[in-house]
Amino acid sequence: MSTKGFIFDLDGVIVDTAKYHYLAWQQLAQELGISFTETQNEELKGVSRVRSLEKILAWGGVSLTEEEFNRQLQKKNKEYLTYIETMSEDELLPDVKRVLYFLKEQQQPLALGSASKNARLILHKTGLFELFDAIVDGTNVTKAKPSPEVFMVAAEQLGMAPENCIVFEDSLAGIQAANTAKMMSIGVGNSNILQQANRVIATFTELPNPELEALIHH
Ligand code: BG6
Ligand code: MG
Repeated sequence: MSTKGFIFDLDGVIVDTAKYHYLAWQQLAQELGISFTETQNEELKGVSRVRSLEKILAWGGVSLTEEEFNRQLQKKNKEYLTYIETMSEDELLPDVKRVLYFLKEQQQPLALGSASKNARLILHKTGLFELFDAIVDGTNVTKAKPSPEVFMVAAEQLGMAPENCIVFEDSLAGIQAANTAKMMSIGVGNSNILQQANRVIATFTELPNPELEALIHH
């Protein structure tokens, strides 16, 4: 039997939370008198909460005391959680459930590889928590994507060699992390932004079950 380690990013791959992160950061930036564009927002995708705030402050040329910095981080997360509170299965991205259940049925090991500290909460809310054999998130790793750390730890927990792992990512930083880890990288989203991926799909609807089988036997 052929086996691959399938590693999924969370925000923007499994659930459409990238928009909520964007809204929460926009609100915070506005209050600090900073504006940033949607293009700049691409640079925040996949990046840890701390690193995101550092980037936004740098764009605005604003510096904060450590205390204020931490206060802003908490505020951002509080705002973000107001969107997550009411989250259910309905917010899973197209065909995510089919893909996860098919791979599970094929006895493929599944891992989550996310920068988020809210990952477990979101997996519970959307009913996916039990599906994953390993969950590596912002509470387990210290180095933010594009560091390959999160995916390397996920592969290790699955007991799979990196070259036998396949990563699904919506962020450029995440694609770079997967490439550095020598894993197959599949971008989910815009092919212009995710050019460095081994392959890009707009959504999982472009990966029917026979194609998933092909990935397993690749
Ligand atoms: C990533 C998101 O998955 O997690 C980033 O793409 C976010 O936008 C990061 O900043 C950290 O998430 P959280 O939920 O711990 O603030
Ligand atoms: Mg993401």
